Amino acid sequence: MIRAGTLISLLFCIAGNPPVEKFLAAVYEHAVILPEDTGTPVSPQEALDLMNKNMDILEKAVQTAAKQDAHLIVTPEDGIYGWRFTRKAILPYLEDIPDPSVNWIPCTDPKRFGRAPVQTRLSCMARKNSIYVVANIGDKKLCDATDVGCPDDGQYNYNTAVVYDSDGKLVARYHKYNLFLGEVQFNVPSKPELVTFDTPFGKFGIFICFDLLFYDPAVALVVQHNVDTVLFPTAWMNLLPHLTAIEFHSAWAMGMGVNLLSANTHNTSMRMTGSGIFSPNEVGPYYYNMNTEEGHLLISVLQSKPRNSLSNFPISWNQYASHIRNHPSGNNVFNGYLFDDLYAFTEITDLQGRYTICQNHLCCHLEYRIAGEDRDEVYVLGVFDGLHVVEGVYYLQVCTLLKCQSMDISSCGESVETASTRFESFSLSGNFSTSFVFPEVLLTNVDLARGMFQVINDGRLISKGDISQYPLLSATLFGRWYEKDPPRK
Ligand SMILES: *[C@@H]1O[C@H](CO)[C@@H](O)[C@H](O)[C@H]1NC(C)=O
Ligand SMILES: *[C@@H]1O[C@H](CO)[C@@H](O)[C@H](O)[C@H]1NC(C)=O
Repeated sequence: MIRAGTLISLLFCIAGNPPVEKFLAAVYEHAVILPEDTGTPVSPQEALDLMNKNMDILEKAVQTAAKQDAHLIVTPEDGIYGWRFTRKAILPYLEDIPDPSVNWIPCTDPKRFGRAPVQTRLSCMARKNSIYVVANIGDKKLCDATDVGCPDDGQYNYNTAVVYDSDGKLVARYHKYNLFLGEVQFNVPSKPELVTFDTPFGKFGIFICFDLLFYDPAVALVVQHNVDTVLFPTAWMNLLPHLTAIEFHSAWAMGMGVNLLSANTHNTSMRMTGSGIFSPNEVGPYYYNMNTEEGHLLISVLQSKPRNSLSNFPISWNQYASHIRNHPSGNNVFNGYLFDDLYAFTEITDLQGRYTICQNHLCCHLEYRIAGEDRDEVYVLGVFDGLHVVEGVYYLQVCTLLKCQSMDISSCGESVETASTRFESFSLSGNFSTSFVFPEVLLTNVDLARGMFQVINDGRLISKGDISQYPLLSATLFGRWYEKDPPRK
């Protein structure tokens, strides 16, 4: 026999977490307090003191977000102890982080897996404020000579993202697969980990920073696991014209058809700023600020299942471009370097027109009209179809309309932050060989063109709305041809 009370609680359990259509997400851009010395090891207590200083600040952001009813908050990569450690010097900052299948709430059972003050504090932040907390910490796993890959110092160190649910339970642990240059303190996991978890507000995936440029695990999470929202702690160094944080991260959300919650570290001398709550049909809100050394909290509503409301999906990126006849390529065609890639450029000379420029397998087409008469700025249409080999090796197919740094065309492709030329309209397309293309539009002063462009399902990136009010830095279709990436070493 079942007593009535049991029956009611049973029903309540089943109906306890009904799916919700929308949720409130927060990301915190954090100006990390860095250790004084990252070359020589400090004591575990000194390491914890430094991490507590950072967690004091993160906790305030968690409390503020929770007070405004946010369901989840993402904090940045390196947000608790910083960067640039030697292998020895990172050790006192690491904890052994178990697999989430152990079902652990560190806040209520802190001693279960040995010393874990950082995990305990993060778990308590989540539990006390009843909010999902995403953070980046370091995991260590002892190994011995029976394991051929075991490092000389007898342990693996991993750059690790963790998620605690609103009860403080560890629900996700992800070891970064694509380490960036100089992350010598960490090891690469033997296989890419595809980490997902379900919530009442959709299916989540997680990865870290440089992972965003590669197929595994970033694209695989979307293609194979259909995640709705990606959690993305990052310490992203901005690079114009195509790889500033807000520009590329918002473009990835749009190109992949998912929400992306990007929390960046803030350090202007490292060019680290730019966080956002990005969804596929709308850019932003976002934060980019080179004029402060302070952190910043963003909160915004997202749809739990963003794909349900996408009218242009799937986008056929080469449809329009494959079916038109090439435009003329113009009178001033030349080559120039952009982030060490040799682009073919053609100068945009008239106030309106059409151009086509090709390289290898890719032809890019531009139709445009410039607003206003006097112009002392040079714009080019550029194409690159080749292997990028600097600060990472990856194959690109890119069509881009961009402002050159100066009137001298040898400056085209170099970074520039301001413009005065406004475009009445533009339409950019290319006959891409890949179906992974990320649409970027950047305005003067590194601002995103919210509501001022769209991608239509034949693959054209077209301007709309108030675009003619704002000077344009660049409009780009940034394609990644993952199959052409060389095998990993
Ligand atoms: C930014 O990072 C650099 C390099 O790690 C460091 O020297 C500098 O102190 C940091 N700036 C701030 C304000 O923390
Ligand atoms: C793109 O168009 C050019 C010129 O029309 C053509 O030579 C090239 O093969 C096309 N690329 C693809 C992948 O179809």
